[in-house]
Amino acid sequence: MTPLLLLLSLTLVLLSFSTTPASLTQAFCIPGQRHALIQLKQGFKTDLLQSWNASTDCCTWDGITCDQLTGMVIKLDLSSRSISGELNPVLFNITSLQYLDLSNNWFHDVKLPDTGFERLTNLTHLDLSCAGFVGDVPISISVLTNLISLDLSNLISSNGADNNLLLDGSRLQIILKNLTKLQVLYLDGVNISSNGSEWGNAVSQVGHTLEELSMMDCSLTGPIDPTLVQLKLLKVLQLDSNNLSSHMPIFLANFSSLRVLSLSACGLRGPFSNEIFHKTDLTVIELSENHMLSGQLPEFTNGSLLQHLFIGGTNFTGPIPNSIGYLQKLSTLELSFCDFYGEVPTSVVNLTKLIDVYFQRNRFTGMIPISLFSHPSLESLDLSENKFTGYLLVRLDRCGKKGRREEVGRSIGKCVTL
Ligand SMILES: *[C@@H]1O[C@H](CO)[C@@H](O)[C@H](O)[C@H]1NC(C)=O
Ligand SMILES: *[C@@H]1O[C@H](CO)[C@@H](O)[C@H](O)[C@H]1NC(C)=O
Ligand SMILES: *[C@@H]1O[C@H](CO)[C@@H](O)[C@H](O)[C@H]1NC(C)=O
Ligand SMILES: *[C@@H]1O[C@H](CO)[C@@H](O)[C@H](O)[C@H]1NC(C)=O
Ligand SMILES: *[C@@H]1O[C@H](CO)[C@@H](O)[C@H](O)[C@H]1NC(C)=O
Ligand SMILES: *[C@@H]1O[C@H](CO)[C@@H](O)[C@H](O)[C@H]1NC(C)=O
Ligand SMILES: *[C@@H]1O[C@H](CO)[C@@H](O)[C@H](O)[C@H]1NC(C)=O
Ligand SMILES: *[C@@H]1O[C@H](CO)[C@@H](O)[C@H](O)[C@H]1NC(C)=O
Ligand SMILES: *[C@@H]1O[C@H](CO)[C@@H](O)[C@H](O)[C@H]1NC(C)=O
Ligand SMILES: *[C@@H]1O[C@H](CO)[C@@H](O)[C@H](O)[C@H]1NC(C)=O
Ligand SMILES: *[C@@H]1O[C@H](CO)[C@@H](O)[C@H](O)[C@H]1NC(C)=O
Repeated sequence: MTPLLLLLSLTLVLLSFSTTPASLTQAFCIPGQRHALIQLKQGFKTDLLQSWNASTDCCTWDGITCDQLTGMVIKLDLSSRSISGELNPVLFNITSLQYLDLSNNWFHDVKLPDTGFERLTNLTHLDLSCAGFVGDVPISISVLTNLISLDLSNLISSNGADNNLLLDGSRLQIILKNLTKLQVLYLDGVNISSNGSEWGNAVSQVGHTLEELSMMDCSLTGPIDPTLVQLKLLKVLQLDSNNLSSHMPIFLANFSSLRVLSLSACGLRGPFSNEIFHKTDLTVIELSENHMLSGQLPEFTNGSLLQHLFIGGTNFTGPIPNSIGYLQKLSTLELSFCDFYGEVPTSVVNLTKLIDVYFQRNRFTGMIPISLFSHPSLESLDLSENKFTGYLLVRLDRCGKKGRREEVGRSIGKCVTL
C-alpha cells in the first residue's frame, strides 16, 4: 500500500468511527445470554468460575469470548475447569456460539442430550473430549454443517462398557453425511463397533477436507476400506487399538500431506509397503504390536523429518541400514521384540536428537554400541536380550534426566538395560 492510500484509508476508518461512536467500544454482553450462562453455571459444580458474576459484563468472564460488534457470545471455552454436575439445556439457547469446548472436565456419567445441539448451527468447533460424558452420541450433531473440528474422544475412562460414548456405524454415517467442512475428527475411545466397509464409507463421505482422523480404540473391525483413498489430504491418521485384520493400505503412500501415521495394535498383517518409509515428510510412524506385519527397514534418504519410529512387536526382520544416519530428527527408535539382526550401525552416533532407544529382544550382534552411552541427548536405552559381545566397565555418571548413578552389573538400572 502506498503511503497516500494508507493515509486515505486511515482517514476513512476514523471517519467511520466518528460517525458511529458505538463501535469504538466493545459491545456488552446481551442480558438474555448472561442469564443463560448463569443458569448454566448453576448446574456446574466447580470452584473455578468465580468471574461469572451476574452483576458484571459476561463478555469479561473466564472462558467467554463475545463478538466485538454485537456482544453475542461466540466462544465458550470451559476446558479443564474441574467441572462436574449437570449440563443445563439452557446451553443450547446460546445459538450464537461458534466454538464450544467442554473438554477435560468431570461430567461423570452425564448423558449427552438427544436434542439441543441442532440449535447451535453456527458451531465450527465442538470439543467434548475427556469430559466424562456417556451414552449415545446425539444424532442432532448431524445438522451442524459448519463444523470444522469435532472431538468426542474419551480414552481416559474406558474402564467399562457403559462408561463410553456410543456411536454405532450407521449413526456415524448419518452424522458425518452433511459435515462437509470437517477438517478434524477425533473419536478415540468412542464405542463404534463397526466393520471396515461401514466405518470406512461413513468417514469417506467427508472427503478431501478431512486433515486429521483419529479413531483409536473404537472397537472397529476391518479390513481398511478402499474408499478411504478419498481422504487424500489427511495429515494425521490414527487407528491404533482396533482389530482391523487388514493389510497395510498401499494408497497411504499417495497421501502427500501425511505427517502422522499411527497404526499400532490394530491387527495389520502381511508385508509392509516400504513406500511409506520413503515419505520424507512423515514425523511419526507407529506400527508396534502388529505381530503379523512383516517388513524390513528400507534404505533411508537424506532430508527425512521422521522423529518417532515405533516398530516393536512386529514381524520385522533384517539389519538396521547404515542409512539410518540420515534420520537427523529422530528422537525415538523402538525396534524391540522383533527379529532384527546384525550390528548396530555406527551411523546411529550421528543421530544427535535421539532420546529413547529400544532394541531389546532381537538378534543384534557385534560389540555393544558403547558410543550410544555417551550420546548427549539419550535418556533411555534398552539393549537387553540380544547377542551383543564385549565387556562393559563403565560407571554411568549420567543417566539422562533421571540422574541415576549405578554400578554396572547384568542390568544397569532403568535407563540402560542390557
Ligand atoms: C458479584 O460482584 C459484586 C460486586 O462486585 C459483589 O458484591 C458480589 O459479592 C459478587 N457476587 C458473587 C457471587 O461473587
Ligand atoms: C430458551 O429461550 C427461550 C426463549 O428464547 C425460552 O422460552 C426457553 O425457556 C429457554 N430455554 C431454556 C432451557 O432456558
Ligand atoms: C450465525 O452466523 C451468521 C453469519 O455470521 C449470522 O448472521 C447469524 O446471526 C448467526 N446466528 C446466530 C444465532 O448468532
Ligand atoms: C443432509 O442434507 C440434506 C440436504 O440438505 C438433507 O436433506 C438431509 O436431511 C441432511 N441429513 C442429515 C442427516 O442431516
Ligand atoms: C460396545 O458396544 C457394544 C454394543 O453396541 C457392546 O456389546 C460392547 O461391549 C461395547 N464395547 C466396549 C469396549 O465397550
Ligand atoms: C458390515 O456391517 C453392515 C451393517 O451392519 C452390514 O450390512 C454388512 O453386511 C457388514 N459387512 C461385512 C463384510 O460384514
Ligand atoms: C481379530 O479379528 C480376527 C478376524 O475377525 C479374529 O480372528 C481375531 O481373533 C481377532 N483378534 C482379537 C485380538 O480380537
Ligand atoms: C498413486 O498415485 C499414482 C499417481 O497419481 C497412481 O498412478 C497410483 O495408482 C496411485 N496408487 C494408489 C495405490 O492409489
Ligand atoms: C514373519 O515373516 C516371515 C518372513 O520374514 C514369514 O515367513 C512369517 O510367516 C511371518 N510370520 C508371521 C506371523 O506373520
Ligand atoms: C543432507 O541434506 C542436508 C540439507 O538438506 C545437507 O546439508 C547434507 O549435506 C546432506 N547430506 C548428505 C550426506 O547428502
Ligand atoms: C556422521 O556424520 C559425519 C559428518 O556429517 C560424516 O562425515 C560421517 O560419515 C557420518 N558417520 C556415519 C557413520 O554415517
